[in-house]
Amino acid sequence: MQSINVKLQDRSYTIQIQNDLRLRLHEILGSKNSGQQWIIFSQKPIFKIYGEAIESMLREHNFEVKHILLENSENAKSLSSMEAIYSQLIDFSCDRSSIFLALGGGVVGDATGFAAATFMRGVDYYQIPTTLLAMVDSSIGGKTGVNLDSGKNLVGAIWQPKAVLIDSNFLASLPKREVVSALGEVIKYGAILDEDFFNFVSDNVENLIGMGNSQLLQDVIGKCVALKAKIVEQDECEGDLRRILNFGHTVGHALEKYFGFDILRHGEAVLYGMLVAGKLSVKFGGLSSQDYELLSLSILRLPLPSLPKFDVDEIIEIMSTDKKVKDGKINFILLSKIGETVIVDDIDDRMLLQSLKLIQ
Ligand SMILES: NC(=O)c1ccc[n+]([C@@H]2O[C@H](COP(=O)([O-])OP(=O)(O)OC[C@H]3O[C@@H](n4cnc5c(N)ncnc54)[C@H](O)[C@@H]3O)[C@@H](O)[C@H]2O)c1
Ligand SMILES: [Zn+2]
Repeated sequence: MQSINVKLQDRSYTIQIQNDLRLRLHEILGSKNSGQQWIIFSQKPIFKIYGEAIESMLREHNFEVKHILLENSENAKSLSSMEAIYSQLIDFSCDRSSIFLALGGGVVGDATGFAAATFMRGVDYYQIPTTLLAMVDSSIGGKTGVNLDSGKNLVGAIWQPKAVLIDSNFLASLPKREVVSALGEVIKYGAILDEDFFNFVSDNVENLIGMGNSQLLQDVIGKCVALKAKIVEQDECEGDLRRILNFGHTVGHALEKYFGFDILRHGEAVLYGMLVAGKLSVKFGGLSSQDYELLSLSILRLPLPSLPKFDVDEIIEIMSTDKKVKDGKINFILLSKIGETVIVDDIDDRMLLQSLKLIQ
């Protein structure tokens, strides 16, 4: 078992990574069980494969458990779905002592975390991520939130979980496309923070997509988790440091919004976003052409869906309404080399347009 601590004073917690950890949840959570309500948040397909067994096992060990199933799409992260959740929690007689378990990918994690942050002014919750993306990224760091019509994650809270419990065996049922999408975030960690890890991932891309090597998977998850935990410890509330995790996301979020979340997975959008940010890095960040080649080669080695036609001006327009815009300027996280970032905010639209044409 790997165990990684996120040190945040009284909000500190542990991230545990172990095969079949889900079968020991009653032991891991046992010391917290004092007769309160435990609510499993999930989505129907995940609950069917894993949730039902977890719920039964917890009940057998005297946990008072109920479940709430969220819509199986990004729509679950909305204020209207929150309203329905709060009503259900009241119907279940939940109170301040209730504990939530987020069993799912980033959508379930973000929605559960937001419900936990806001219900009765805050209750405890645990992240039990079931997608690779949630394991390496969204379950860690306490960023929770929902979307508005005008953009993603525009309403939210920083609310840390009590622990993140990662069982890589959940990945056995994950569609390959979701794995590829998560590799977008994995490549990102290497690109912004750790050149050796970047090279290691690039050398093992095919192996990782195949998912046959469970030790390799666990090592990669452990490394990403450790890198993210370190950043979160130093910058819990997203000042300059944590913002480097947004490499590839300025363009990525705009593409997600333009095409709709069903056409493009989050990580796929980030992969395209990193291609554009990489090109801009050569012009404005000091990235060498060789390093850009390395970045684009590892991205293009992944089976990405080709982008439907899009209007570059509209993408730029969407970017300028993004959260990352400060004083009217779009903030770009760029690379100065593989493993190092710079923040640049004076990129003019003409340059942006040129770089976006690269993926058009
Ligand atoms: N909070 C953060 O810091 C943070 C960071 C990155 C992304 N996010 C958010 O995460 C979301 C994306 O998360 P995601 O990529 O995990 O997608 P997701 O949660 O939509 O999951 C993808 C699909 O896989 C299914 N699924 C989940 N686990 C499965 C399993 N083990 N087997 C079979 N199917 C399974 C889900 O039901 C869903 O249909 C976005 O909303 C994004 O904004 C948040
Ligand atoms: Zn992301």
